[in-house]
Amino acid sequence: MVNVEIFEVGPRDGLQNETAVIGVAEKVALVNCLSRAGFNRIEAASFVSPKWVPQMASSGEVMAGITRAERVGYWALTPNMKGYAAARAAGCDGVAVFAAASEGFSRANLNCSVAESLERFGPVLEAAKADGVPVRGYVSVVTDCPFDGAVAPGDVARVAGALMAMGCVEVSLGETLGRGVPERVDAMLAAVLAEVPAARLAGHFHDTSGRALENIEVALERGLRVFDAAVGGLGGCPYAPGAAGNVATEAVAARLEALGYAHGLNMDVIAEAAGMARAMRAGAARPGMVQGGAS
Ligand code: HMG
Ligand code: MG
Repeated sequence: MVNVEIFEVGPRDGLQNETAVIGVAEKVALVNCLSRAGFNRIEAASFVSPKWVPQMASSGEVMAGITRAERVGYWALTPNMKGYAAARAAGCDGVAVFAAASEGFSRANLNCSVAESLERFGPVLEAAKADGVPVRGYVSVVTDCPFDGAVAPGDVARVAGALMAMGCVEVSLGETLGRGVPERVDAMLAAVLAEVPAARLAGHFHDTSGRALENIEVALERGLRVFDAAVGGLGGCPYAPGAAGNVATEAVAARLEALGYAHGLNMDVIAEAAGMARAMRAGAARPGMVQGGAS
């Protein structure tokens, strides 16, 4: 059976968009539960400006609070050297830089142009190489941008190729808005695969239009074997108006099984984690149940 890795991004991409602060203890409990599910990698934190994404301000405390499972790597977003230093101090096993395929999204998400963002990532890649820390590169808005509209496949390929050339171990293709249809995802992949081999790519699909699983199938046919997902289908990007949740981990696992792929996850633990994630969102939505920051 062919193995496909699900890279769990729930604790980061799933929660970053919640406006009411979720307590550290709840976040730690979610990561600890996910650590028992069989993932190789969990995106547990994000060392970005707390002014830009307040929900992730407790990332250092979350990393300090979790009980690490030996075979799990705990990853974090690091948009610049300040974020990288914080991720190192927190003991993250891998970090991710994140660029966009459109200028509009780059400005909204990183407050700089695509070229400037790549320049900013240079020192992060250099430091990580010296420290032996693997770096993932995201490309956002790979089919559609909320500000600039349809994105040309060539623009995605150019940014993906640049991230790979800078030393990223993997490039994750972010369908940020979740509006991409299989035909356009396929055309985007065809262009990217001319620059980056399938073995170094991951698919990161949001599920706004309910087509994420179809898009994953297209990517599987193109040879991709890593997919990002969030338990309970949580998520959305704070700088992508209209973006709904990430595709749900449990849905991806079920589809992979139906297609005859192995994923190695314990579905009982996944169901437990999905329940916790949904309860966190429901709690955050009801002011009376919101927990304060650190706990
Ligand atoms: P800026 O305002 O241009 O940056 O933001 P700056 O360098 O001028 O710094 C402004 C303030 O932020 C300063 O503090 C810095 O110290 C601080 P002040 O002096 O005002 O008190 N700062 C930081 N603090 C903590 N950690 C840091 C950091 N860097 C600066 N790392 C910046 C530029 C990149 C910082 C900002 O735009 C930012 O944090 N953006 C992050 C946005 C974000 O996290 N978006 C969501 C994640 S991306 C995503 O979800 C997409 C993805 O899922 C894939 C997909 O679906 O497409 C990955
Ligand atoms: Mg995302």
